[in-house]
This record gives sequence, structure tokens and C-alpha cells, in this order.
Amino acid sequence: METTEGRPERREYGRFSGDGLEFVITDVGTPRPWVNVIANPRLGLAVSHTGSGFTWVDNSQLAVLTRWQQDLVEDTSGKFVYAMDAETGDLWSLSPAPTWAPLDAYACRHGIGFTTFETARGGIEATWTLFCHALEPAELWRVALRNRSGRQRRLELCGYLEWCCGVAPAPRREFGKLFLETRFDAGRRAVLAKNHMWEVPSPRFGHWNTSFPYVAAFASSEAPVAAEGDKAAFLGRYGSLRAPAALRGKRGPSVFGRHEDPIAALRVAVDLEPGETKTLGFVLAAGGSEDEAAGLAVRVSRPEAMEAALAEVREAWRGRLAAHRMEIPDARFGAVVNDWVRYQAISARLWGRCGYYQQSGAFGFRDQLQDSQVWLTIDPARCRDQIRLHAAHQFRDGSVYHWWHPLSEQGHVTKMTDDLLWLGFVTAAYVRETGDLSVLADTAPFLDEEGAFPVREHVLRAFRRVFARTSPRGIPYMGAGDWNDGLSAMGLLEEGESVWLGHFLAGLLGDFCEIFRRTGDGALSGEFAERRAALVAAINAHAWDGGWYVRGTLDDGSVLGSSKNRAGRIFLNAQTWAILNDVAPPDRAAACLDAVRRHLVSEAGALLLAPAFDRPVPEIGYITRYAPGLRENGGVYTHAATWAIAAAAKAKDAALVERLLVAIDPSNKDPERYWAEPYVLPGNVDGPDSPHHGRAGWTWYTGSAAWLHRVVAEWVLGVRPVWDGLSIDPCLPPSWPRARMIRPFRGARYEIAIERGTAFSVTLDGCPQMGSVLPPPARMGARHRVDVVVP
Ligand code: GLC
Repeated sequence: METTEGRPERREYGRFSGDGLEFVITDVGTPRPWVNVIANPRLGLAVSHTGSGFTWVDNSQLAVLTRWQQDLVEDTSGKFVYAMDAETGDLWSLSPAPTWAPLDAYACRHGIGFTTFETARGGIEATWTLFCHALEPAELWRVALRNRSGRQRRLELCGYLEWCCGVAPAPRREFGKLFLETRFDAGRRAVLAKNHMWEVPSPRFGHWNTSFPYVAAFASSEAPVAAEGDKAAFLGRYGSLRAPAALRGKRGPSVFGRHEDPIAALRVAVDLEPGETKTLGFVLAAGGSEDEAAGLAVRVSRPEAMEAALAEVREAWRGRLAAHRMEIPDARFGAVVNDWVRYQAISARLWGRCGYYQQSGAFGFRDQLQDSQVWLTIDPARCRDQIRLHAAHQFRDGSVYHWWHPLSEQGHVTKMTDDLLWLGFVTAAYVRETGDLSVLADTAPFLDEEGAFPVREHVLRAFRRVFARTSPRGIPYMGAGDWNDGLSAMGLLEEGESVWLGHFLAGLLGDFCEIFRRTGDGALSGEFAERRAALVAAINAHAWDGGWYVRGTLDDGSVLGSSKNRAGRIFLNAQTWAILNDVAPPDRAAACLDAVRRHLVSEAGALLLAPAFDRPVPEIGYITRYAPGLRENGGVYTHAATWAIAAAAKAKDAALVERLLVAIDPSNKDPERYWAEPYVLPGNVDGPDSPHHGRAGWTWYTGSAAWLHRVVAEWVLGVRPVWDGLSIDPCLPPSWPRARMIRPFRGARYEIAIERGTAFSVTLDGCPQMGSVLPPPARMGARHRVDVVVP
């Protein structure tokens, strides 16, 4: 299609709703599945715009309820609703997959907390909404059918899923199915499933000798006319999800039990007069017993209960995101920053711990701690809970699990060197936000020592461990990687150094020097001040390459991230964190930001390193094994790209801030080039060393979501909590004439308006302020108005 200017018109596939809270896909041919990850603190589902997807409870890898195959090209795997005209046999589905029958109308509305498919075929309009109950482990499907055909219709709906009830992906399906048992409970209109074997080691019974600890139930709101429990009986021999034999009149006997290939198909009859609308539902629930699971499913499947549950979920999300909001000139980016990335951080990263590209289920020690900062302004107690949870996954020598699985408590011990320090990082962020030092007295055991040890002790042990792992030059060791997992081999002997870790540690030493001063630990405070000064001096003496900071040294002493290197000549984090943590003196800060601008800022954003590695270098690690320009290997790693925005803002380079914001904004991209969802952040975007520069991937499961919100609020709008108040220090992109924020702070509510003018000024409730730091509010419940002028 050509526009009047002769340029080809961009195929958009969908658009945001007016309020930005939904992304409405109307063209099913998106370059990749565009997904929603919908979760409550226990149960979650991932659903793509084709209708494909899966459901889990408590752990998206170890406790997966329904089978799904990760194939993002076919994307026809999962749980579906079939519709059939009982008179003509016409068969279609309420989402494009799995029948792919032509639809007269199609829209997939991905919303905050729900996804709705709107379809029409042969005069039958259908909406199918999938969401989680706000609290209970139940996934609800609300289906509304409307007869627009002008004649009476006899239809059948069939809700379909394939059971997993265990660890996923489950490649040995023929083995796995030997342990599953299903049962149809006509009274409760439900198929029940349990698994007598769970592929998770049990501390009491050993490996593969324990049952899946949940029963799952799939129920319909109406009495089914038929139910099916065996896949081959339902699909037919060599049949397919596109046209199940059972729905083409070849109905086999209903079979359930312990000797089948376990699925659940529930068929309900729906008669519709011309113009009539009917609403019905299906529920997938989990519980500790049959009664618990089926009872829950039956309770929430009634249409009125479903309406109430949907209203409650929408209200819960609205309320959660309402207290802290920003108004910026670009409304679409505003919706991404205010609503979508925080929803992404909470729903996908903290609760679901899942995306379409990664079914994790585990807590990453550093990952979910960072994510939990999304709660700081809206519900800080939840961030504090996360601090305690992670503290309880530390060993008494200060080391921590790199990740661990809730349910099984299996953890991964590594020589990763930064994980343990994030506990202090987030604790300091919590104190700065709340002013509440009592978090240091919260207690948690160690993994190898029962007892109630204060968070202060956990943090100190982490510091002591890192102090002991420092090179003779005074720079911390790299170990099996620092924030960058892919630098997995350069420091295994604990001789190679990490300069980024040095920058990170320097910031933390400053923070805890202040925290210990406030808690009256003068000696510790003094020790930390000295350590910081020595570390900053060591980095500046040994890690400056002339134009930028090197990334580190290998065990053999050779340097990485230096002008001497052919690949990996300059690394982003080694510059941005030097600026953010005041390790770089002013001249070096200016020089290394300039190097970032020249070598790392691509059209797609700030690259993690350049040039990319083009062949495996075992001595460096698996980062070198990625294709050039992909992910950590010279791509835009969005997590780190958010820190580049903060560093540019700190350096007051507004033009660079604007450039990097435009680059990271998923909503302004050409889908043919970018591929990924326009409403949430991807983990990475290909860099210039890839033939697909600008192509994004690994969406939803990325630490950039929580960080982008924080960086825009604290560095671009510049409203940043400091120890004794709220610092007002904006760096607005040149094209932004103004911005606004509402924000809670220590029990008060601030309304902040930033406008362009001649000179910088701040007024608080009409009173001009001397400096740029507002004092903490005098009383709880106060409302303050802040007017800021920026040149
Ligand atoms: C992945 C990991 C995260 C790490 C990052 C960079 O996102 O989950 O912990 O910091 O990669 O390697």
C-alpha cells in the first residue's frame, strides 16, 4: 500500500486503546507472537494473540498445569475454545489458533490483567476473555456469544487443554503421561487431573519418587454435553488441533483414568435465538486436593462470579498503578512507562517469573531483587518482603544462590560475584525511599544456619565476602561473571578483575557509609568511607584506558574492554556506572560518556559492548558464543540500556537522553524491523553487527521493565529520593516542553509540575526553595505542590 507521499505505508498490526491500557491487535500476521503474561501472586498464564499459551501455579517451570510447545513460528499450541455449528458442522475457534478458520472479524485486546479475543464468523459474534482471579489460583475464561445471523442457531463450544501437571518443557511426553490420572466429575462439571510423579527431587523420598503437589480442575459453567480425556480419541489418529475428529462427528467414548493421553475437552451446547446473547465460562483451577481445586473452579465459574472477578482484577491493577504517575508529552510512551512496564515487572517478572521466550519460575538472586524496586513508590512493604526472601537464600559465608526455585528450593551455587551485593543495593534504595532504617533489623535465617539474623548482618556478610575477594591492585575479582552472566570464564581462577563490579561496590560503600552513620555505627561508617576512597583510587589508577574505563582483566592478566582489543573494545556498564556512582572524576566522566556516544550509541539504542565477538573465546566466556550483535554480545541489552539513560541524564546530556528514550520506546517502532510487542520491553535488540540491526526479542522476561520506570521517574523527570528528602533534578529531552508527576513520598502526596523557563527554580507550595532537595514531609497525609522550572 502506498501513501500519498509515495512511501509504503507501515503495517501496524494493532494500536493502543485511547487510554493506553489495552493494545488491540487486528492483523493476526504479526512478525512474532505478541503476548500477554497475566498473573496473580500464585497462578499465571501466557497467551499470545493467536490464542496459544499455557498456565502454571506457583512456579512457571516446575508446576505447569497445561502443555505448550515453544515454537514461535507455528504458535499453535495450548488451550483453546472451539465453536461449532451443530447443524452445519462448521468449525472455528474463538481465537485464530488452532483452527485458523477464516474469521469475519478479529481483534485481540491485550490489557493490563486480561486478554480478550473478539471474533465473528457466520453471524456469530464471540468475545473470549482470559484472566486470573485477583487472589485465588484460578484462570477464568468468560465467553459471550451473540447471534447476529438473523436465524435460530444451535452451537456447541468446546474448551480444550492438554495436561502437563509438572515440569515443563516436558520432552519425554510418552514417559510423563504414564503417571497422570484424570477423572470426569459430572456433578461438578469438571475434569480433574493429578500426577503421581513429579520430576523434582524430594528431600524426603529422593528423585522421581514424589507426587505433583496439586490437583488441577477444568470446569465449565454449564453442564457439558460431552467430555473427553484422551488426546487420540479427541483428535483422531494422526489428527490435528485444526480439526479434531471428535468435533467432526466422530465422537469416541469418553475416556479418563490412568491409561490415556491426558487432555480435557468439555463440550457445552448453546442455543441462540436471533439477536440473543449468552454468557458462559470455563475455569482452570489448582488446589491441594480434588475438593479444593474443583470447589474453587465451580465457585468462580458462575457468570456473576466471573463478572465480579474481572471487575476486581481491573480495579486492583488500576489502584496499584494509580499512586505514582507521570504525564509526558508522548501519550503512548506514557502508557508504556506508567502502565505497561510496571505491569510487566509485577505480573511477568515478580509473580509469574515467565515470558514466552523463557519459562523460568525461579527467583534470580539479583533479578527479582532489582524488579522489586517497582514497589518502592507504590507499596514498599512488598519490596521489603523481597529483601527478606532473598536474605533467606544466602549462606552464612555471605555467598548466595545465583537462582533458586520456590517449591523445590533447589538452588544454583556459582562463583558469580555481584549477586550477593544486590541485597545491600535494594536495602539502601528502600531506606532512601522510606527513610525507615528498621528494615536493617528485619530477620531471616541463612541457608546453612537456622536463626533470625538481621538484614544488616546479611548485608555485612556479603560485603565481607566481596572484600576478601579483591585483587592485589584493590579491584574486586570477576569470578564466574558479574552482572554480565556471559563473562562466565574470564575470572574463574579469581585472578581476573571486574571493573564494573568495582564501580558497583564503590556506590554501595558510599550508601552504607551513610546508613551506618545514621545507625550510630561510626566505626563501620568510617571503614566504608576509607574502603570507598581506596577502591575509587585503585580503579582510576589501573582501569582507565585513555578514553574510557576497561571492563576487567582475565585470569592471565590480559585486559578486556580496551582500545587494545579487537572485539569487546568498549563496554557500556563500565562507563555508565562510573558516572552514576561518581567513580569517574569530571574530566573522565565527560570522556567516557563521549566514548559511549561515539562507539556504543546505535540507532537501536546503547549497545552493551562493541565490536561484537565473532568467534568463541573460551577464556572469556559464553558471551562470545552468541551470534554477533545478539543479546549480551553487542546487542542493545535493554536492562543496561536503561542505565545509559540515567548516566546521560546525570551528565545533563539532554539530547542523548532523548535519543536513548526514543530508541528504547517499543511503541514507536516499525514492526517489520522490530518484530516485538509495541507495549512491553524486550530483553534485547540486535546491534549493528547483526544483519537484523533493530530486531527485538526475548520480550516480557527482562529486568529492564522495572528499571525503565525508575530511570524515567528519577533521572529524566529527576524526582529522586535522597537520604533527607526528595531531590528535584530533571533532565528533560529537548523536545519535551513540560512534564508532570504525582508521587507519594514518606506518607505525603506530591504533585510536581516541570515547565520550561529561563533559569532552574523549585517552589514548594508556592515558596521558592534555596536548593533542589525538598525536605521530608512534616506530616503523614500532607499534600504538596511543587513547581519546577528548567531552562
Ligand atoms: C539475564 C540475567 C541477569 C543478568 C543479565 C545480563 O538477564 O537474568 O541476571 O544480569 O542476563 O547477563
